[in-house]
Amino acid sequence: MRDTAQAADLLSWYDQHARALPWRVPPAESRAGHRPDPYHIWMSEVMLQQTTVAAVKEYFTRFTTLWPTVQDLAAADDARVMGEWAGLGYYARARNLLKCARVVVAEHNGQFPDNREALLKLPGIGPYTAAAIASIAFNRAETVVDGNVERVMARLFDIHTPLPAAKPELTEKAALMTPGDRPGDYAQAVMDLGATICSPRSPACGICPWVAPCAARAAGTAAELPKKTPK
Ligand code: ADE
Repeated sequence: MRDTAQAADLLSWYDQHARALPWRVPPAESRAGHRPDPYHIWMSEVMLQQTTVAAVKEYFTRFTTLWPTVQDLAAADDARVMGEWAGLGYYARARNLLKCARVVVAEHNGQFPDNREALLKLPGIGPYTAAAIASIAFNRAETVVDGNVERVMARLFDIHTPLPAAKPELTEKAALMTPGDRPGDYAQAVMDLGATICSPRSPACGICPWVAPCAARAAGTAAELPKKTPK
């Protein structure tokens, strides 16, 4: 059963506390029907794959200033793009960024596909990124699961199975929680909750919009979840 009341509580929290991020449309504008530029969401999500939000902000602004559209990026000099990527690491991401931009221009008329299945076919776009773009840029009810979301779900449902074995169960819970109303804002809200309140070591349960339904909070186990299988 989908829990729309809990999603609504989180969305109200997001309306008040959404982080201002350079690629993000603020919640008031999103509620009015404004969608972010899919090119911006794609760029930010690729950069965020292995890099913190704090570090990505500056790179995102620089890249979108240098190359404001996917056509500009597709036409960019490879070495220039790789040079600007320096510091973000994992250069395969930068090579795929260029490849993907060129495929979007050559095969999709410069428009990012608006659904998960088509996005998955593009270079460098895996299940996480496809769901994030479909959800955030196109407001589709896709389940977006990153480390933040796994932690929030493990706590909300007090799941003690260690990661990575717990992934299917956490993904199933995340899918059940995803609302049909404002799924894009919801995806960003869970990530913000995980980053700012439901933090790994000392979650701020006292100010959490999901404190009432949180099973780990009731059991006193929040700070020890999610469990991880030792490497
Ligand atoms: N981490 C990865 N993607 C994010 C997003 N869209 N908002 C906040 N944190 C994120």
